[in-house]
Amino acid sequence: MKVYITSSLPEIAVTRLKEAGYKVSYFKQDRLITKEELIKNAKNADAVISLLTDKFDKSVIDQLPKCKVIANYAAGFNNIDIDYARSKNIVVTNTPDILTHATADIAMALVLACARRIPEGEKMMRSGEFTGWKPKLLLGIELYGKTVGIVGAGRIGQETAKRLKAFGTKIVYFGKSKKTEFEKETGAKKVSLDSLLKKSDIVSIHLPLNPKTKNIINAEKLDLLKETAIVINTARGEVLDEKKLIRMLKKKRIFSAGFDVYEGEPKVNKELYKLSNAVLLPHLGSATFETRDGMAELAVKNVINVLEGKKVVTPVN
Ligand code: GLV
Ligand code: GLV
Repeated sequence: MKVYITSSLPEIAVTRLKEAGYKVSYFKQDRLITKEELIKNAKNADAVISLLTDKFDKSVIDQLPKCKVIANYAAGFNNIDIDYARSKNIVVTNTPDILTHATADIAMALVLACARRIPEGEKMMRSGEFTGWKPKLLLGIELYGKTVGIVGAGRIGQETAKRLKAFGTKIVYFGKSKKTEFEKETGAKKVSLDSLLKKSDIVSIHLPLNPKTKNIINAEKLDLLKETAIVINTARGEVLDEKKLIRMLKKKRIFSAGFDVYEGEPKVNKELYKLSNAVLLPHLGSATFETRDGMAELAVKNVINVLEGKKVVTPVN
């Protein structure tokens, strides 16, 4: 049976699949695969391992007559029409859990980078503009005693909260369900989204993107933020009104924002490049050696289990 991988994953993926007796091919170029290339290359595949940038809508799924599993190399799966895939008897899987700590680390890194203006300081040093310690040089915001609002208290949201708790913050969260264990461990309180946005000094977003969460933090909601707020998005760009957030940053209506994800990725709104109070990362949430290897192993395991009729490890449809 044939497995097609839409990118060059950690080698462990190809090795494991070959050991298990599969024919493996993958997209070798150092860029994202196009829709046309995906359809052409995956046409005869029994399984596809995909990236979050590969769109599997009806028009693509219809061109994969032999496919039994799409194993997304990501926790998110908003790039795939999972209901339509199901209707074609295609199992869709993702790679949750394994990337929780790496992504929480990136959220934490963005919080510190925003609060203490790390990129601005770095830039000042490298440009030779540092002329000595000054009482008011690049003043930031101290985390101790602040309130952190976790929007979406799933695994990544909870781990981010735990890290921030260690800095002496209070935690509030918004989510579908009450998380009793999490509340016990961190003293977190469940609140409405409006209340969270009004109260929090740091808002960190950890929602999956789906029709219910798309633009959930719209312009009106963003207007609830404190003047000193820091907003961190390591989830998906489309969960908030990015244009409105950019306008607010421009007017210094909030303190700063940290982005690991963007609306309409891989495109990025160029207005962001001009903002000294925005910290921009190229979607690095899960980008550690440990996690990317783990994601490859999990994606491969999902493929093999579907093709061999075994219990799927992390199905989403
Ligand atoms: C990354 O954004 C992922 O969903 O894994
Ligand atoms: C800062 O470097 C201080 O000594 O206060």
